[in-house]
Amino acid sequence: MEPFDTQVVAANRSYFDQDAPNYDTQEGCITNRAALRLVADHLHRISGLLQTRFPSQSLRGLDAGGGTGNIALQLRAYGITPDLVDVSSEMINQYLMKLPSDVRPSAKTVCSDIYHYLTTTNENYHLICFSSVLHHLADYRAIVELASSRLIPGGIIYTIHDPCKKNAFWHKMEMADYHLSSAQLFRNYLRHKIMRSRNYPMRTADIGAEPHVEPGIDDEELHRYLNRIGLKIIWHERYYTARTRLISLLHRVAKRPRGFSLAISR
Ligand SMILES: C[S@@+](CC[C@H](N)C(=O)[O-])C[C@H]1O[C@@H](n2cnc3c(N)ncnc32)[C@H](O)[C@@H]1O
Repeated sequence: MEPFDTQVVAANRSYFDQDAPNYDTQEGCITNRAALRLVADHLHRISGLLQTRFPSQSLRGLDAGGGTGNIALQLRAYGITPDLVDVSSEMINQYLMKLPSDVRPSAKTVCSDIYHYLTTTNENYHLICFSSVLHHLADYRAIVELASSRLIPGGIIYTIHDPCKKNAFWHKMEMADYHLSSAQLFRNYLRHKIMRSRNYPMRTADIGAEPHVEPGIDDEELHRYLNRIGLKIIWHERYYTARTRLISLLHRVAKRPRGFSLAISR
């Protein structure tokens, strides 16, 4: 698979340009407290590591596929200055609107496919984050490898909110989770069922925008690949946390991790 696939990139741009105004109120990884805690805990650990490794440097981060800036805003709180790259200008606008007006002019955002950004930039980073992004990329292995070439030695790549490998049953559970998780969608569903309203606005990305959502990502294979190319794995964690408690519980009972996180160092 090519690291850059025009159709996948175009599907993402089109979907997220439309979804941007709803994203923060309807996206499970932002509305779900357990998911937020997971990321907050990871970023806390990572910032501690970076402060130990680079005690007197101003830390620079890249929020790759950063969308509405939920990771970038947390990096700022840790004193890590983030650049945010995203293929959707509307998602970037949402991020910019959240910044205080005195910070906005100096916030670096780039509206670009991440492959093009990483292959053309001269910037180097202490931290590169991919939150809920790998499964949107045609060749996520190539992009993580490329990202590692933009790391300052000792720097960290962090990934979170990608689905583990799954079969058709667990994909159905993921879809159920998705539909149950959004109050807005549930309301629309009821309106559709009860009032027979014709316009039932589905908020699911075209499968073209998420090429790896249905099979999930083989995180063990990714782990082995990263080792083979000489990167160090700081952690490889699997978690049961889904968007809703019900589906999280189902994952836990079945001992079937829902997602994984990697922290990788060069
Ligand atoms: C599910 S959202 C995650 C947003 C954010 N990282 C978060 O955690 O809330 C996926 C984001 O990746 C962006 N994206 C998808 N493919 C991309 C690509 N090839 N290059 C850059 N951004 C991309 C989308 O526009 C979208 O903002």
